[in-house]
Parts: sequence; C-alpha cells; structure tokens
Amino acid sequence: MTVITTATVQVRDLVRRYDERAVLDGLDLDIAPGEFVALLGKSGSGKSTLLRALAGLDYDVEGSGELAVPQNVSVVFQDSRLLPWARVLDNVVLGLSGAGDRGRKSLEEVGLAGREQAWPNELSGGEQQRVALARSLVREPELLLADEPFGALDALTRLKMHVLLRKLCATHQPAVLLVTHDVDEAIVLADRVIVLDEGRIVAEEVVELAAPRSSADPGFAAIRSRLLDALGVSL
Ligand SMILES: Nc1ncnc2c1ncn2[C@@H]1O[C@H](COP(=O)(O)OP(=O)(O)OP(=O)(O)O)[C@@H](O)[C@H]1O
Ligand SMILES: [Mg+2]
Repeated sequence: MTVITTATVQVRDLVRRYDERAVLDGLDLDIAPGEFVALLGKSGSGKSTLLRALAGLDYDVEGSGELAVPQNVSVVFQDSRLLPWARVLDNVVLGLSGAGDRGRKSLEEVGLAGREQAWPNELSGGEQQRVALARSLVREPELLLADEPFGALDALTRLKMHVLLRKLCATHQPAVLLVTHDVDEAIVLADRVIVLDEGRIVAEEVVELAAPRSSADPGFAAIRSRLLDALGVSL
C-alpha cells in the first residue's frame, strides 16, 4: 500500500484486517486543509485503527487502499505520553534541535509559562495534556490527529481544554481529526462530525452553528439527535 503526501487528507477504499476480520472495510474520507473533523463511533468500531493508519503507525497491519496525508502530522493520545525522565520543555522540543524558544512560546500558548523545568509527574492530568498539545503544535503540523485527548479529564478541565483547542486551531490552522465519545464535544468543536460503523463512515453532519455554540440551541439539539441515531442510541 502506498501513502502519498498531499495538502489534503484523502482516504479511498481503506481496508484494515485483524485476524481476517475487516475492521475498516472500504472506508473513504476527505479532510480539507484547516478543516476540523470529529469522529464518533461505538467502542471497537475502528476509530483508533483509522487514526493509526493516517499517522502511518500501522505498518504491521494487513490491509489495502489509498491513503494521502500531509507530510507533517502530529498525534495526541488520551494519556499525554510524556517522558517522565525529561523536563517539560525537553518533552515539548524532543527531537527538534535549537527549538528552545519555540518550545517556550508553545508552553506559553497552552498556559504553562514558568513550568518549563517541571517534571511531568509534578503536573496535573490536564496540565500534562496541555504539554502534549504544545509538543504537537510546536511542530506546526498540517494535520493533527487526536485520539480521545480529553477522555481522562474531569468535566470542568475538559471545557477549558475545548476553549484552548479552539484557540490553538484558530492560530495554527491545522486540519484536525479528533476522536471522541462525547457527542456534545464533537458538535462544539468540529466543522464536520462523522460516524464510523461497520468499517465505513455512515453519517456526516456539517456544523454551521454560530459561536459560542450552545447545547441549548435547537440547531445543536437537532444535530445531536441525528448523530445519536447514527450511533444506534435512541432516547
Ligand atoms: N493489534 C490488534 N490485534 C487484533 N485486533 C485488534 C488490534 N487492534 C485493534 N483490534 C480490534 O479492532 C477493532 C477496532 O479497534 P479500535 O481500537 O480501532 O477501536 P476504537 O473504535 O478505537 O474503540 P474505542 O472507542 O474502544 O477506543 C476492535 O475490535 C479491536 O479488538
Ligand atoms: Mg480507540
């Protein structure tokens, strides 16, 4: 299978099998430069499998299809995956030489100025995720892949992270594919919400609600209701 480098994400007829079972089964997806797409789907529907394919982290998995992604891709996971033996700033600029100033600026952007020399275990879970975001964005990715990045955070910290992520995306304008289980989070953050089921994208909602988006808005409720339907949840 060939991975081509382009400005946009283009996935065609993507198949990924584990033990003969096709988890992704002819999946098509396009993401435009700067577009924010949220991906919903039941547990085990293949969301992380799709992210790993886009990140090029699934070279050991059997499959076929065409995959075009930008050259510069960053990934954020549910746990921050910081190196515990490296200080915060060193974690942010890991693998980049002479990037100290950029790293400090990124930490300032995520509200962690002054914590450059802290150890990761001296930070709260939310702060560690901020470091993970700084580490991703310091690389100025054209595509940011995020796999439930706020899944382990409490509700209040989550809301703060939403505000932060929107601000960072407005500044850096990467294309984003965000996996989440939280339908409201998807609608608040994304330009478009898609639902994965049986190995393909089965529903899509373009979100054109005025900011700040509120779950009290009838338009919001209508989108939520259609997405829940697609997820097989009837209220
Ligand atoms: N390395 C692997 N070997 C075998 N099966 C796997 C492997 N990785 C994933 N799977 C299977 O593929 C399916 C999709 O997994 P995936 O992790 O992509 O789901 P997901 O949508 O991210 O789920 P969740 O919401 O729980 O994170 C699951 O049934 C899982 O058991
Ligand atoms: Mg997953």
